[in-house]
Amino acid sequence: MSTIHLACDHAGLDLKDILKHALEERGFSVTDHGTHTRESCDYPQFAHALCHAVEAEADGRGILICGTGIGMSMAANRHAGIRAALCTTELHARLTRRHNNANVLCLGARITGVELALAIMAAFLDTDFEGGRHQRRLDQLTIQPAKG
Ligand code: RB5
Repeated sequence: MSTIHLACDHAGLDLKDILKHALEERGFSVTDHGTHTRESCDYPQFAHALCHAVEAEADGRGILICGTGIGMSMAANRHAGIRAALCTTELHARLTRRHNNANVLCLGARITGVELALAIMAAFLDTDFEGGRHQRRLDQLTIQPAKG
């Protein structure tokens, strides 16, 4: 996990640039999937681009930012290989890494302030998955055909 994928819509642009700078300061290389301007755009396109890239890596990790974080998380969780978590606290980020092995963090730039977003990102990056019973539960996320 030396590369972190980032993407946002117009509402997340400023926060994405701040997180990108912080990641580079920590020595991560960053792949920025856009958007790159303040022009109004459609968040699913950026979510899907990032998720394809994260899914293509063994231990891919990404961060998606829109106004609320909700649209990005909805789009990201359509991908079979993505476990996206919308986090508004550091505890959410720590627990979703420990229990859900989340590989995509979603943030709402209109909901979460910059300092808290940086702290949430750090918790997401620095916390390991616990495995064990949590892996068994993750295995059950795959939808099986309805019985009967
Ligand atoms: C854009 O106005 C806004 O709808 C989007 O950033 C996001 O919050 C959607 O979930």
